[in-house]
Amino acid sequence: MAKLYVNEKKKKGYINPEIYGHFSEHLGRCIYEGLFVGENSDIPNKNGMRTDVVEALKKLEIPVLRWPGGCFADEYHWMDGIGPKEERKRMVNTHWGGVVEDNSFGTHEFFELCEQLGCKTYINGNVGSGTVQEMSEWVEYMTFDGVSPMAELRRKNGHEKPWKVDYFGVGNENWGCGGNMTPEYYANLYRRYQTYVRHYDKAAPIQKICGGPNVDDDNWTKKVLKTCFAKPNPGGKNFSGFMDGLSLHYYVHPGGWEHKGSATEFDEETWYKTMYKALYIEELINLHGAIMDHYDPDKKIGLIVDEWGDWFDVEVGTNPGFLYQQNTMRDALVAAVSLNIFNRHCDRVKMACIAQMVNVLQSVILTEGKKMLLTPTYHVFHMYKRHQGADLVESSLSGEQNVGVENYEVPALQESVSVQKDGSVLVTLANLSVEEDFPVELMLTEKKPESVKAAILTGEMHACNTFDRPETVKEEVFEDVELTDRGVSFTIPACSVVSLEIN
Ligand code: AHR
Repeated sequence: MAKLYVNEKKKKGYINPEIYGHFSEHLGRCIYEGLFVGENSDIPNKNGMRTDVVEALKKLEIPVLRWPGGCFADEYHWMDGIGPKEERKRMVNTHWGGVVEDNSFGTHEFFELCEQLGCKTYINGNVGSGTVQEMSEWVEYMTFDGVSPMAELRRKNGHEKPWKVDYFGVGNENWGCGGNMTPEYYANLYRRYQTYVRHYDKAAPIQKICGGPNVDDDNWTKKVLKTCFAKPNPGGKNFSGFMDGLSLHYYVHPGGWEHKGSATEFDEETWYKTMYKALYIEELINLHGAIMDHYDPDKKIGLIVDEWGDWFDVEVGTNPGFLYQQNTMRDALVAAVSLNIFNRHCDRVKMACIAQMVNVLQSVILTEGKKMLLTPTYHVFHMYKRHQGADLVESSLSGEQNVGVENYEVPALQESVSVQKDGSVLVTLANLSVEEDFPVELMLTEKKPESVKAAILTGEMHACNTFDRPETVKEEVFEDVELTDRGVSFTIPACSVVSLEIN
């Protein structure tokens, strides 16, 4: 019997809603077809945005959306994506499949999408192949309310009022696709470029995100922070930092970069290897977090995990540059443990964006023509959504065991617990074992539970939703939960994710 102790009185931090963020790149069928079909499509849409997809995403209460890349961001010239659509410049999307990008989805369309989703905006600027002037003018175009060339151009293109840019990324993966820079070189460029990301709306300053390390590259983190992190002014007031966040990218590919492996065909060993590699993100948070603590002991800046998720071989028969992959219960478990880890590190992790929202890597939605399906990962986000804006509280497991295969043993159960504003307790728990169920006794410290609302996502490890069978894996009511004097007890089946809302 595993015991899960929850001290609902011991608050450990605020779970920033942005931890449940998403990423949409001009990659494959993410933007075109997945999110945007254009006003003239026979697929129902509002101002070009697919109605079915937007409605499904709204149920997740998406907090923030990052755009336009990824690698695409450092090749994107925003002026190509404004003005009359038929006049917009075409380009070749060299990173992703070499297809023609017609720029029909640009700045105006991105803000329209975010408005429909009701989410914050995270724009990623171009440092790799763009100029300081270009970045500075984009910010002016989007956010300046006065009289200026860029504000006038925005008005001419039909948008009178400025938009709100919540986050602005100064480049993407500048150690790789964003310019192959050294940390020293990028750090100096960052200081320069970010200077011109002006806060036109003083009441709503843009949060600036500095390009962070690849996986475990702590040298990058050290060098970039050394150059770019500015201490608070004496007296601690008027924090004059050059950055509000440092990004981190981490993808799980069980077979390594060269042989990532199939998204749907895998054995138990690969399952556990995947879980083992997913849990590694906690080590990365600790590694980079410790360096951040050195420069920023008050934790003023956030670790922004703005790309994370499973990355497998592309689905056979699809364009290799489109990175389209199916999504199984394995992805659901990876999402569950990753989100639990982000919650548990909410003192430093202020945002995380799963890659990518629709039709690419670990997507929450897949589309095919007019059809749409919700992936197992979608359901995890749905079950976890009430962690957003809640307080993380202390929790610990005892009596549980490791599962796995040689070299890839993992703790079977992974949890996080938060307390909502109304005092209810949300527990999310994942069972990583592919075959063992575990009885669990959950004990609260003071609260006398009166009711529990529980949901479960479970299935055989390869289970997935297809366009013919879109509801094979779905969130269901978890009936077999008993209220006890001090909490609840239940048995968590193998390969499942459970959420319990205790009142
Ligand atoms: O998500 C796919 C790609 O992975 C992104 O464009 C890039 O930032 C990362 O390498």
